[in-house]
Amino acid sequence: MRLIYICVLWAILITHVILVACKTRNNVPAVIVFGDSSVDSGNNNKIATLLKSNFKPYGRDFEGGRPTGRFCNGRVPPDFIAEAFGVKKNIPAYLDPAYNIDDFVTGVCFASAGTGYDNATSDVLNVIPLWKEIEFYKEYQAKLRAHVGEEKANEIISESLYLISLGTNDFLENYYIFPTRQLHFTVSQYQDFLVDIAEKFVRKLHSLGARKLSITGLVPIGCLPLERATNIFGDHGCNKKYNKVALQFNAKLEKMIYKVNKELPQLKALSANAYDIVFDIIARPSFYGFEVTEKACCSTGTFEMSYLCSDKNPLTCKDANKYVFWDAFHPTEKTNRIAANYLIPKLLAAFR
Ligand SMILES: *[C@@H]1O[C@H](CO)[C@@H](O)[C@H](O)[C@H]1NC(C)=O
Repeated sequence: MRLIYICVLWAILITHVILVACKTRNNVPAVIVFGDSSVDSGNNNKIATLLKSNFKPYGRDFEGGRPTGRFCNGRVPPDFIAEAFGVKKNIPAYLDPAYNIDDFVTGVCFASAGTGYDNATSDVLNVIPLWKEIEFYKEYQAKLRAHVGEEKANEIISESLYLISLGTNDFLENYYIFPTRQLHFTVSQYQDFLVDIAEKFVRKLHSLGARKLSITGLVPIGCLPLERATNIFGDHGCNKKYNKVALQFNAKLEKMIYKVNKELPQLKALSANAYDIVFDIIARPSFYGFEVTEKACCSTGTFEMSYLCSDKNPLTCKDANKYVFWDAFHPTEKTNRIAANYLIPKLLAAFR
């Protein structure tokens, strides 16, 4: 009798220890996303912009072949990251009416395709500026507090993983297209201007309670099919100047991240640099099972995205898994998966 009693006690104790251990193992309750089309899961569907992707062939490899507003044939990196943390399989867009605060308790996306650090970038295609993404995030915090209570909301806010990914449009849709910024800034000054905005953004998020940040800089933007197509004098190779600009920007961003980590209490900001992995995919595609890097899957693969990437186009490829890029500006789901899998171990080691 006595032995059984002791055994039961031990069993309860061990179960308890295991439960506590499991609970502390995954202490990221939600994944919260800010940025541009690299991470947007459908916010642009609900705003007055021409930059949309909530129609086929976008999303043809997503669950149910559903075009969600992701600029991809399938999922984007935050979806894979959230899944790896055991949080949820796909991150819903804040403005998508199919979801509500109950869904957003475990993750929400405020990103908007076409946006940038610079206010002038979001103006180009009339999308959500970064400051407005923060306004939506504040609104979300209020809804979260009303939904789960002050204490639980504070825990979610401070323990969540915040993914930040933008910057490409500041250079490719703004600086190198319109004269306004070029008249005021050299490219080096413009990088500093953007990194300064990024720093203010991080400080703002920290003041609102965020602690675990992952900041992604630029991929080799000179290798996007659109940039190759327009690189006439470079024989349609990667635009080396743009890639250099991306590397310089990333270095400045990393310096800023190092600085804020030292200055802001309890902040843990990680530089989630995806330049090298994307560059490697482009440099040796067959190693990753790709066949085409220069052109995108959609239509001619040289300049089409958004509405120009039409379901009617007979040129669109059959198997997107053979392509590094889905449209002229965005990677395929397979590329997104490889890039996410490259970052996930670092993120798990830092934040779980
Ligand atoms: C961007 O616009 C917002 C809202 O008007 C403003 O508060 C912010 O200071 C602007 N940012 C920059 C860097 O000009």
